[in-house]
Amino acid sequence: MPRYYVLLGPPGAGKGTQAKVIAEKYDLVHVSSGDLFRDNLKRQTELGQLAQTYMSKGELVPDDVTIAMIRERLSRPDCVNGALLDGFPRTPAQADALAKMLTEFKGGVNLVPYISVPENLLVERLCGRWTCRSNGHVFHEKYNPPQIAGVCDLDGSELYQRDDDKSETVMNRIKVYAAQTSPLIEYYRKLNLLAEIDGTKSIEDVTAAMLAALEKA
Ligand code: AP5
Repeated sequence: MPRYYVLLGPPGAGKGTQAKVIAEKYDLVHVSSGDLFRDNLKRQTELGQLAQTYMSKGELVPDDVTIAMIRERLSRPDCVNGALLDGFPRTPAQADALAKMLTEFKGGVNLVPYISVPENLLVERLCGRWTCRSNGHVFHEKYNPPQIAGVCDLDGSELYQRDDDKSETVMNRIKVYAAQTSPLIEYYRKLNLLAEIDGTKSIEDVTAAMLAALEKA
């Protein structure tokens, strides 16, 4: 039976950072909705151009478009054993759609690790983030600096700062998360799927807590 994990947490909580480690350890495909939109934008597809009009303001891309993109991604053969979802679902309507589509794929959500981080730490994390252009590896100028400034330790490609990591956009992303995404905490708690992880700890400690939660699931 395929296994699906949903990483939940505010912007900058460390979802992408942890997803890279866990996906490798469990041999799971990392499906990041933000990365899929950014890849579409890089290729200048219609979807990428549409998504950019929302992403640049820190707003959510409409549910129907996002759900269709995730359905297409999860239908591909590499997801036959499941996936680690990062950034999706982000609204109760997306969570309902996910439950429905996973039933079709003969699976369901197995666990929702929720990385909790207070708002005051998020701005510093996002404004100091550097992302690798080729594979989305993530660094932080203070908490996880690359060995050579501007160069990814893992694949040598250029590091850049995301357009939506400017402080005004970050503030709106945090507001949008509180209004539209945080209801998913209760949604998954009620389903007994939520594993709350303290995201204020070091990257290594968060990974250890996450792995412990996954082992129990
Ligand atoms: P998306 O790309 O998903 O961004 P996000 O959810 O805002 O999450 P981030 O990637 O910003 O943060 P993260 O939690 O992955 O943190 P990271 O590991 O990088 O979405 C972007 C946009 O796309 C959205 O605003 C929306 O417009 C659109 N979109 C995407 N999905 C959508 C959906 N489902 N529906 C509608 N629209 C959608 O870490 C952050 C920094 O902190 C890094 O520098 C890292 O090194 C550092 N760090 C990580 N962990 C720690 C730690 N424990 N201690 C210290 N530093 C740490």
